[in-house]
Parts: sequence; structure tokens; C-alpha cells
Amino acid sequence: MGSTIIGCGKCLPALEVENDELKALVDTNDEWISTRTGIKSRRVAVDETNSDLAEVAARQALGWIDGGHAERRLDPSEIDLIICATITPDVVSPSEAGLLRRRLGLSNAIAFDLNAACSGFVYGLAMAESMMAAAAPSVAGAAGRNPVRRALVVGAERLTRLTDWSDRNTCVLFGDGAGAAVLEWSDERPGILSSFIANEDDEANALTCAAAYEAPQPFDARGISLDAAAAGDPGLARIDEELAIGEAVADGKPRQVLRMNGPKVFKFASEAMTAAIRAALDRANLSLDDVACIVPHQANERIIKYAAKKLGCPLDLFQLSIAHTGNSSAASVPMALADAYESGRIQRGDKVVLVAFGGGFTSGAVVYEA
Ligand code: COA
Repeated sequence: MGSTIIGCGKCLPALEVENDELKALVDTNDEWISTRTGIKSRRVAVDETNSDLAEVAARQALGWIDGGHAERRLDPSEIDLIICATITPDVVSPSEAGLLRRRLGLSNAIAFDLNAACSGFVYGLAMAESMMAAAAPSVAGAAGRNPVRRALVVGAERLTRLTDWSDRNTCVLFGDGAGAAVLEWSDERPGILSSFIANEDDEANALTCAAAYEAPQPFDARGISLDAAAAGDPGLARIDEELAIGEAVADGKPRQVLRMNGPKVFKFASEAMTAAIRAALDRANLSLDDVACIVPHQANERIIKYAAKKLGCPLDLFQLSIAHTGNSSAASVPMALADAYESGRIQRGDKVVLVAFGGGFTSGAVVYEA
């Protein structure tokens, strides 16, 4: 008994940008990017919105259109829950999940977004599984909860809209896309066997992206003040200090872009990935020998190689999809999962590990039986 993945899909925007093309923007080259990261090209959403990408991935996962992997075609009324993991929603409200609910006609679904940066899809699966397990008919108190028998979990990003295209340390890394999975509660199949999610403080502000609220605020501490709107938001300035970007913003640099200390994030990521895989496998009472495929967050091929070495397993146990996507944050794991199904490397009964890490810092892994 458990929540089983019965469908998945992915969508990449049309525009593909090769490494060498970025030479027009920053001092870089294909050799540096591909040897340091494994990335050769990334997709950039120009005409596509985040919800356009998410919608196509979801339609595949629901078995409504070709592409992706779907055990059967679901009826819209069957979906009880939509979780969309994203740090780049098209709008603040409705949520991205709410937009999807409308576009897909999933009128029975509860819908909300989840921000756990690049770990968002893994968090979303863990969250959906918990809600489904708590509402399972055999569980005491289930009648007092929203019944959730099927969930659509999506990771969708337009990271290229948060990218500082003048910063070679970050702009070569990111790309856009969306991936989706459908979970179904099954009385027969075990499905998700364990999950592990964790946070630790990013105390050095190694990976940040500040918000940019634009509505002018005509108040100061005493009440309405028409001058205050022009003076700017003192709260934002304090957050800028907290994230250590005050100086950059004062210099006229954009506030709402991804800023990263690569080596610090690399260190966190490599440790977090191996720790999450080990912890989730322990919770499932499994070892790496039982695993048919690990689907990791695609941030840097070297991080994945490091994890394989540290875990003492072959690199080809890992699904590698980074070469033509770059790091697409919450979309990266579900897109790589769709690739793994497409290439036939996940078969019914296989044990699969999904693992991610990201800003916050967040990290997590889910083990399931396909
Ligand atoms: N092209 C050419 N040179 C570049 C470059 C680029 N795009 N970006 C950085 N460099 C230069 C640096 O300026 C530095 O030059 P210097 O030695 O003259 O100062 C040199 O390359 C090495 O930079 P460094 O940052 O030490 O490289 P690195 O081996 O750590 O690789 C990352 C950088 C970003 C690829 C790597 O740190 C990384 O992947 N970190 C984790 C990122 C991540 O996972 N982020 C998302 C988390 S969800």
C-alpha cells in the first residue's frame, strides 16, 4: 500500500542556447562550461510562460498527450491535489498550481505552490505522499481530512528571468523547463517507500535571490506619507542587508537575480546529496545494491560524480540529463525522471531514488518502487 508514480512528463522551451553563444554576453567559453559543469546548452523560455511549460508536462503525466510516461489516461475529476514547486511563478496569486488547476480543468483539486528552491519537487512528492497516507481509508482520523487519492506534483521554472546575464559565475548554469508526476494511492503497490527532507542555514548567503515588490507604499512609521512612496521600502533595505546584497543594490545592480558563491554551494551540495540518499535508503531499509536508478538534481555533473565516488557506486546508476538543460531548479528532477522513463531505464518493480539540494539550504530524497 502506498503512493505510486503512475505518470510523468516534461516540457522544454523552444529556444536552445549553446555555451559558445554566451560569449556574446560574458567572458566565457564552451570548454570552461562543459568541463566544469557538464552543461553544453540550456533552454530559454522566450514566448513560453512558466505555466505553459508546466501545463504540457502535466498533460503528458496525466496521459492526455503524447510524450512522457503514463500508465493510463486520468479523468480530470480524479486529481485531488496539485502541488507546484517553483521559485518563478508567473504571478503571486493565483498560485502556479491554481493556474494549472484552471487550465487543466482539475476542479476537484486542492492547489498550492511550494518554494524549496531546487529541492521543491522532492519536497512536493514527500508532502503529497504524507497527505495521501494520512487520508488513506485504513488510517484512524482519515475521515477528518481531505481525501487525496491522486496528486499532480509539478516542478516548473523560468530561472532565466532571475539570472544576471552579466555575471559569468551564474549565468552559464541555469535554464528553463518543467516536469510533472502523477501519484496515485494504491492498496496493492508500495510506491513511495521513504522520504527524507532537511534544511540547514545558508549562513554565508551562498545562494540567494531577493524579491522585488514594486507597489509604491505611501506610509512611514507615523502613518500615511506621500513622500514615503518615493523614498522606497525600508523593509526591503533591511532584507538586502540580511542577504548581504545591500552594497550591490546601492551600486545599481538588480535585486531580483540569483547570486551564488559557487564553491560554497558545491561543498554543501556534494555533502547534502550523499547524506540524503543514504538517509532515505536507511529509512526504506534498502542499500544501494537494491537501486536500479538514482535521479539527481541536475546542477553540475561534477557534483553527481562526487556523490557516485563517495557512495562507491557506478556513475551510470545516475540519470544524467544536465548536458542540454542546465540547472532548472525545481524542474530538474522531474524532467530527468521523465528522461529515465523515456530511455527505458526504469521498469515496473524497480527501486528508484530521487534526490535534490538547493537554496535555503534545502535537501531531500525519496525512494519509491516503480
Ligand atoms: N567562464 C569562464 N571562467 C569562469 C566562469 C565562466 N562562466 N565562471 C567562473 N570563471 C572563473 C572564475 O572567475 C575563476 O577565475 P579566477 O581563478 O581567475 O578567479 C575560475 O573560473 C574558477 O572559478 P571557481 O568558482 O573556483 O570554479 P569552480 O570550479 O568552483 O566552478 C561552479 C564554479 C559554479 C561551476 C561550481 O562552483 C559549482 O557548480 N557550484 C555549485 C553550483 C550549484 O550547484 N548551484 C545550484 C545549487 S541548486
